[in-house]
Amino acid sequence: MDQNSLQNDVIDVCLRRGIVFPTAEIYNSYAGFYEYGPVGVKLRENLMVLWQQTFINSEDNVHEISGSTIMPEAVFDASGHLDGFHDPLTQCNKCNSMFRIDHLIEELGLEILDENSFNEQLKNNEIICPNCPGVLSEPRNFNMMFKTNVGPLEGNTGYLRPETAQNIFINFRRIAHSMRASLPFGVAQIGRAYRNEISPRNFLMRLREFEQLELEMFVDPDEINNHPNWVEVENIEINLLTRQNQLKNEKPIKITIKEAFDTKLIPNQYIGYYLALETMFMESIGISNNLFHFRELKENEVAHYSSANYDLEIVFPFGVFEVIGLAYRTDYDLKKHSEKSGAKLQINQPGKGNIVPHVIEPSAGLSRLIYAVMLSSYVYGEPNSDRDWNWFNFTGAMAPWEAAILPLMKKDGMSEGAKELYWQLKDYGLEVIYDESGKIGKRYARNDEIGVKYCITYDYDSLEKDLITIRDRDTMHQVQIKIDLLPDLIRQLILDILTWSDLENEFGRFK
Ligand code: GAP
Repeated sequence: MDQNSLQNDVIDVCLRRGIVFPTAEIYNSYAGFYEYGPVGVKLRENLMVLWQQTFINSEDNVHEISGSTIMPEAVFDASGHLDGFHDPLTQCNKCNSMFRIDHLIEELGLEILDENSFNEQLKNNEIICPNCPGVLSEPRNFNMMFKTNVGPLEGNTGYLRPETAQNIFINFRRIAHSMRASLPFGVAQIGRAYRNEISPRNFLMRLREFEQLELEMFVDPDEINNHPNWVEVENIEINLLTRQNQLKNEKPIKITIKEAFDTKLIPNQYIGYYLALETMFMESIGISNNLFHFRELKENEVAHYSSANYDLEIVFPFGVFEVIGLAYRTDYDLKKHSEKSGAKLQINQPGKGNIVPHVIEPSAGLSRLIYAVMLSSYVYGEPNSDRDWNWFNFTGAMAPWEAAILPLMKKDGMSEGAKELYWQLKDYGLEVIYDESGKIGKRYARNDEIGVKYCITYDYDSLEKDLITIRDRDTMHQVQIKIDLLPDLIRQLILDILTWSDLENEFGRFK
């Protein structure tokens, strides 16, 4: 299959079916802003819940907050974003188009050297404007934060946060005190972040406004190789692309978390623990281990606050995309904010007094993950077969709706019966959608297309014998069961307590 057409087909279905679409379309909006429509919101919610389950609810020492997105300049002065959060910009002297130099270099298949060499690389490789024969200017740094003025008086400079993490650092003392937290403990946040990207591109991959799912895990540095749940994750296998592998142009190695730690390929147990949790989370959203690897960032790629980074990258035939970052931020942020604000961002550690904890940070991007889930779940139908339409084979936990309730026809009380069933399933806590317009085959196709897991048809057997038909999206097989069994069976299917073949074995395939 042509991979460009995969991207185009996924974007097309996103627009047609109201999954995701550009902001302010009717006014020709800026690039890099997208809205989630009714179907997209369901995917977004599911992804957030799965992330919360893995990174917050499965632990007893992680707390969640929700902070402001605009903060005073002092926050970003201390965090280093004012000075260090920039991209290298060049401009064409003819058409005035602006480009990120590292992207131009990358697109030509050249190795990206450090930022001091960009000018040389432009000149030596005779790189000109991609849009016209114009000459490109010397690089200059472009700070990616959106600046604003807070209130009517000029001079109150605020910035839209470029990462959610900063709220967590500046609120460290309050959260630690209010939750009577002791090390190790984590603070998580899901929220919007803003970056004035020079060239937003690749649909949902590089946006100017996006959501992050971040966790800052605060640890006593002397205990960083003593994760309390280490034995639960040490045998999990990951694909690791070390700096050495990258130098030699090698593929990622398959290695257990324990082996990676024992051979010092990762700096500490907490990094290992979160590599494992990220792997488990990816599997929960339907992206299996063989589709991604963890790349250790090279020295010149590591952010100003970090001493080690492992990016979870998905390798698509049309490019490699980082969807989750994992950074060892050390005590950088708490120290900087303590210095600049005068607040003591420390915690009492028994036997040691007040210490500044170290931070391990898994940081995921929601839109990138949703795009990755859609790209890896898109299945093409076979022309002239029983199914000639395309569909998403989302997992039960990711599917926008668990089931669609379809009256076979609108007449003879089938609409009313199906609607009653719809409310009954909703009251039971299932995510269901009601659909009665058009022929039944068209409705199957319509619901498959957006990845609804089951179609439930209310027909004459429902009216006369209390029987209902469930159709499985992936096999298109059906079973017929008593209506009163339906809510619990759907729940068991969605939670993977029961498989579709279990159901067929018990009730027989219905034709
Ligand atoms: N607090 C750490 C941090 O912000 P990052 O690697 O810059 O680290 C974390 O960002 C994640 O946020 C990335 O892995 C990516 O999924 C997402 N992200 C970053 N920039 C983005 C953008 N312009 N558009 C969409 N997602 C983005």
